Amino acid sequence: MSSVSFDYSGKAVLVTGGSSGIGLAIAQGFRDAGGQVTITGTQTGIGDYPDDLSAFDYQQVNMLDVDGIEALAGSIETLDVLVNNAGTTFRGEEAYKPENFEATIDINLNSVYRLSHRLFPKLKASGGSIINIASMTSYFGSPRGPGYGASKSAILQMTMSLGALWALDGVRVNAIAPGWIDTKLTAPIQKMPQIADPIIQRTPMGRWGRPDEMAGTALFLACNEAASFLTGVTIPVDGGYCTL
Ligand SMILES: NC(=O)c1ccc[n+]([C@@H]2O[C@H](COP(=O)([O-])OP(=O)(O)OC[C@H]3O[C@@H](n4cnc5c(N)ncnc54)[C@H](OP(=O)(O)O)[C@@H]3O)[C@@H](O)[C@H]2O)c1
Repeated sequence: MSSVSFDYSGKAVLVTGGSSGIGLAIAQGFRDAGGQVTITGTQTGIGDYPDDLSAFDYQQVNMLDVDGIEALAGSIETLDVLVNNAGTTFRGEEAYKPENFEATIDINLNSVYRLSHRLFPKLKASGGSIINIASMTSYFGSPRGPGYGASKSAILQMTMSLGALWALDGVRVNAIAPGWIDTKLTAPIQKMPQIADPIIQRTPMGRWGRPDEMAGTALFLACNEAASFLTGVTIPVDGGYCTL
């Protein structure tokens, strides 16, 4: 991201799923702006990842593990920004199994509520905010992943609900709905022209988005001065995909 002057010096930021892709780019954005950033991933340590994550505090958390989420929340002393980014999907026939539908909801939605609920007191104390990561499937059908679509649509709704609930507590809750972004999550479909070509044809900017293109919106949404009257909204950052 080109330099945008947000100052997060002295601010504590937690980015779930910050070990790669969009989460890592957002974590780097806050780190570059002076923030103290904790990231989570599913692997044991930062040495298990291809990117250099040494600028961050790292915690291993699987969002299917309620005890692990509770332990993460309990380990946070102060918090200014919570970015609920960790997410995944199942593919092929696996996506249609009821148990995988439930697992997708647990990872992409239930963990977001649990972590937000548990960390709300810290955010209230600091006047902090939450950023959730939604999706184009928050707005459109997701025939290749009904659980993914259901979870991301609910993220949009929950962002409105918690934004309204916590407005008078001074905790703003907003979301980013990325378009189609070049990450390891989308790597398999980028190799499938029958899926990838229509995506690019429908995207007015005519390309895949980059993870770092999500960071500026995150820094803006978390900024209590720039986004002071903004809560409950989901902003598409999608190269225009939603316009068609
Ligand atoms: N890429 C897109 O086009 C796109 C579009 C809309 C929304 N999104 C959303 O953006 C977020 C980030 O995705 P991405 O595209 O950046 O994919 P990614 O590179 O695969 O990153 C996903 C992150 O979530 C973590 N994660 C996956 N399953 C988890 C689990 N069960 N428990 C805890 N953490 C888990 C991953 O950890 P590991 O690195 O250890 O696997 C990683 O840190 C997700 O919520 C995704 O749904 C992506």
